[in-house]
Amino acid sequence: MIPDRELLRRFLRQRLDLGETELFLESLTPEEALALVRPASEPRGAGALDWRAVLSDAGIGGDRPGGASPSRAAARQGSAPPAPAEPSGARIDLRVLAAEAAGCTRCRLHEGRRNVVFGEGNPEAELVVVGEAPGGEEDRTGRPFVGPAGKLLDLLLLSAGFPRDRVYICNVLKCRPPNNRDPQRDEVERCSEHLHRQLEAIAPRVLVAVGKFAAQTLAGSEESIGKLRGRVHTYRGTPMIATYHPAFLLRSPQWMRAAWKDFQFAREVLEAQRSGGSVAR
Ligand code: URA
Repeated sequence: MIPDRELLRRFLRQRLDLGETELFLESLTPEEALALVRPASEPRGAGALDWRAVLSDAGIGGDRPGGASPSRAAARQGSAPPAPAEPSGARIDLRVLAAEAAGCTRCRLHEGRRNVVFGEGNPEAELVVVGEAPGGEEDRTGRPFVGPAGKLLDLLLLSAGFPRDRVYICNVLKCRPPNNRDPQRDEVERCSEHLHRQLEAIAPRVLVAVGKFAAQTLAGSEESIGKLRGRVHTYRGTPMIATYHPAFLLRSPQWMRAAWKDFQFAREVLEAQRSGGSVAR
């Protein structure tokens, strides 16, 4: 398995090759980004990773004008998310729901699927990411977001303080549409019962919908993803943030910064939820 630090290095390198030099360093300080990928056993402070070295390994100068000061990072170090809770009843519910979905024949998509991709992650996650539908790699493995878009999603989540094992990831559609075509309205309608019950079982504090289909389904809106972004929607009482789909970001990296900000926004909303407040936009 590739260590998180190496993943971060590769990601920075990739962004640089695509002409970006500022991702990660605008709202999240270098120290914060590296704190996220530092092994849990490694103490903070003395002996911590040298972010300048990592950035310079990736070919990016570390002392970028406008970067936040180390003291700001230190002031926020106490805000790391809590360790994942021990799974309890929610896991059992999800297993039952997953078993039900495994035999689903509610729509035509069951005919061509190799696996139902129900979803995976922490059954008591505070944050759930909802995507569109499984692609080829997901259909083959039965796991959501494991292809190239999934790798990018992992990094976006990590940059906002959410390692993959602390969140839950699923899709609106649990079966792959042929040739990755767009989901059809009746497929979304028939499959959304699985999603609704799944989200009810997890009861997250915040939802992040990636891409138009997930955002429209959860927001109950036909607005474009551009219009749905930047606001807090509510899905059955749970705050929902909409952002671009990582597969779109791989094709259009100029929107990466916007998506990254959306994930930071989701983190703010989650923190506000934890403290019983709200985030205005
Ligand atoms: N795209 C999605 O929307 N979901 C996946 O699981 C993979 C790619």
